[in-house]
Amino acid sequence: MSKSHIHIFDTTLRDGEQVPGCKLNTAQKIIIAEQLDLLGVDVIEAGFPISSPGDYASVSAVSEIVKNATVCGLTRAVEKDIEVAASALKDARKPRIHTGIGTSDSHIKHKFKSNREEILERVYKAVKYAKSFVEDVEFYAEDAGRTDNEYLARVCEEAIRAGATVLNIPDTTGYCLPNEYGAKIKYLKENVKGIEKAILSCHCHNDLGLATANSIEGVIQGARQIECTINGIGERAGNTALEEVVMILKQHPYLDLETNINTKLLYETSQMVSNNMGIYTQPNKAIVGSNAFAHSSGIHQDGVIKNRETYEIIDPHEVGVTESAIVLTARSGRAALAYRARKVGYELTKLQLDEVYTNFLKFADKKKEIEDNDIHQIIETSTVFSQIASA
Ligand code: KIV
Ligand code: ZN
Repeated sequence: MSKSHIHIFDTTLRDGEQVPGCKLNTAQKIIIAEQLDLLGVDVIEAGFPISSPGDYASVSAVSEIVKNATVCGLTRAVEKDIEVAASALKDARKPRIHTGIGTSDSHIKHKFKSNREEILERVYKAVKYAKSFVEDVEFYAEDAGRTDNEYLARVCEEAIRAGATVLNIPDTTGYCLPNEYGAKIKYLKENVKGIEKAILSCHCHNDLGLATANSIEGVIQGARQIECTINGIGERAGNTALEEVVMILKQHPYLDLETNINTKLLYETSQMVSNNMGIYTQPNKAIVGSNAFAHSSGIHQDGVIKNRETYEIIDPHEVGVTESAIVLTARSGRAALAYRARKVGYELTKLQLDEVYTNFLKFADKKKEIEDNDIHQIIETSTVFSQIASA
């Protein structure tokens, strides 16, 4: 049986760019869009064209240069937004308008001062209007995570009746637990009339640290698109991290779900986004953090030197990281020191290692991390130095 394709919808340039102080200019957006296209994402959400002239210009420019991916522009369920998005997307090879409205009772009452029936009408009208410009229309039900499932199913039916090709079910506030979010997707798959005409999309925020888990549960329960950003950046605690969902699906082949992502480009894409946005990636960030393939405790180092798989579930080459790092600290053991010494040119016998290791521990207690130049110094100041052979 062939695997089901999970569409990767990257929103680094739209939801990701909502990180305070991380505004990208058009030139930067073009560079990142080209990289995302190379990475193999299915959809690039390039911006929110009506929000500013700069965003309009960026969506137009990205539309012109992207070769493979669908290019998408965000709108509210407002005619003017939709017209402006259609105009910004006019040069895209594969344009998509992403329109929608809040559907939770809280959004309906406080944001729109409206009622459920009026919102259903606005859903239909917005999708229908967007369809008059482009074939591919995605509808989002903002705050779907806190929208009751029966009403959400009616909202989806209206969007499908008007021609939506994708139904985005955002957990806008990052509130849902994985089993709740998965149950929502399952409910919609089983209860929305005409659901076979559209695909369901997961758009999860990370307020409780559950964005990745919720998206994975969503696709297990039948969604076929994940909306995500590089490094998980985004408003507040961010969005689902692209590199995480892609590697989860790759490392768990029995799920029979696959993406089109060239995972070898993940690390360089992460660095590119982080540099352009001026926002550094936490060292312990899964897949792309500087410590994701670094081992510092003696027991782990000994295991990894004997066989990488003892403490690594991903080959670093698979994500574009050149090699696992054996970091030397006061917690490191002899195996790690011998390994790093060999890398800088010394082959130590067991006896030589004993003496050099004692020297090393004195050094390491004073310094957080031992670098290559420290290794030279430690070895060259040991009494056995003259007997040590080159590696
Ligand atoms: O989180 C959200 O609900 C959104 C929508 C605008 C798609 O980003
Ligand atoms: Zn969002």
